[in-house]
Amino acid sequence: MIDKIKVYIEEVNSFSTNKSDELEAFKNKFLSKKNGIVTNFFNEFRNIPPESKKEFGQVLNNLKNNVEQKYASIKESIEQQADSNIDIDLSLPGENIILGSLHPVTVVRRQILDIFEKIGFVTIETPEIDDDWHNFTALNFPPEHPARDMQDTFFVEKNPDVVLRTHTSNGQIRFMEKHKPPFKVVIPGRTYRNEDISARSHFMFHQIEGLYVNENVSFIDLKETLLFFAKEFFGPKSKIRIRPSYFPFTEPSAEADVTCSICDGKGCNVCKYTGWLEILGCGMVDTNVLENVGIDSKKYSGYAFGMGIERITMLKYGIKDIRYFFENDLRFLSQFQNL
Ligand code: DAH
Repeated sequence: MIDKIKVYIEEVNSFSTNKSDELEAFKNKFLSKKNGIVTNFFNEFRNIPPESKKEFGQVLNNLKNNVEQKYASIKESIEQQADSNIDIDLSLPGENIILGSLHPVTVVRRQILDIFEKIGFVTIETPEIDDDWHNFTALNFPPEHPARDMQDTFFVEKNPDVVLRTHTSNGQIRFMEKHKPPFKVVIPGRTYRNEDISARSHFMFHQIEGLYVNENVSFIDLKETLLFFAKEFFGPKSKIRIRPSYFPFTEPSAEADVTCSICDGKGCNVCKYTGWLEILGCGMVDTNVLENVGIDSKKYSGYAFGMGIERITMLKYGIKDIRYFFENDLRFLSQFQNL
């Protein structure tokens, strides 16, 4: 019996093939659980006389190991051969690598912040989840004030004191509570309103808030700053127009328009044939707001403004629907790659 095994060992050692099916047949012939040669020998084990059991076991194990090694080494060489058989044409052009790009909101946010940083504004970040005091009360929205209805608010966990901020104006309070004038800051961030999604409005969008407080700040400073921004952002020929408006935290309050950059003020469907685009709200910081954060309103005055990033982007590039910003459609996003 041992001699028979040795003959099989010879057979295994001299076996060679480069075909996978022959290799699999070889493996099955020896190792198959049903009727494999090695398996059958193992079944014989109990019939071997005790004095030969040891040698029998060793020789049989040799056979088994040789089969396994042979199988593994031939399998590897067949696989290598398969790899090297693939024709490689080194002259083919490479596949295009598709690079990601910055989101248009990020691109425009940076453009806007860069403009204000040039004239001394410092960018700061403030919380998106805030309390009633910072989002409303300190900004001169008393409880029950109808102006609260202008901004449909999301409350966190039915707690009326914890809100998703409805505007970045909360950042004015957050900053002024901790700093003494003079200061000049811009505050970018996400804002939320409980509104139906449509071409014109979304429940989540982005704003940039500006705030300057110092001695003797006047409305003229505000106008100059906004004109500088308009020319830098929309082009050097831009003009601005200031209209009276109402916000609880500014007095007087205003809205600023810029000449339509799509039609140069001649009238088109983006500016609804008026030649003007409304770009932001602004005004002189209300004395109540300064007092709420412990700043002496007799000594200091300030201006503030706030603009929507999506809105400004839509006006600058003639985008008709705010939903494009949030749908991750590459046909839209890739158009902002080279800005
Ligand atoms: N917070 C206002 C809004 O979301 C925008 C705004 C208006 C901000 C006037 C200001 C401002 O700082 O002075 O509608």
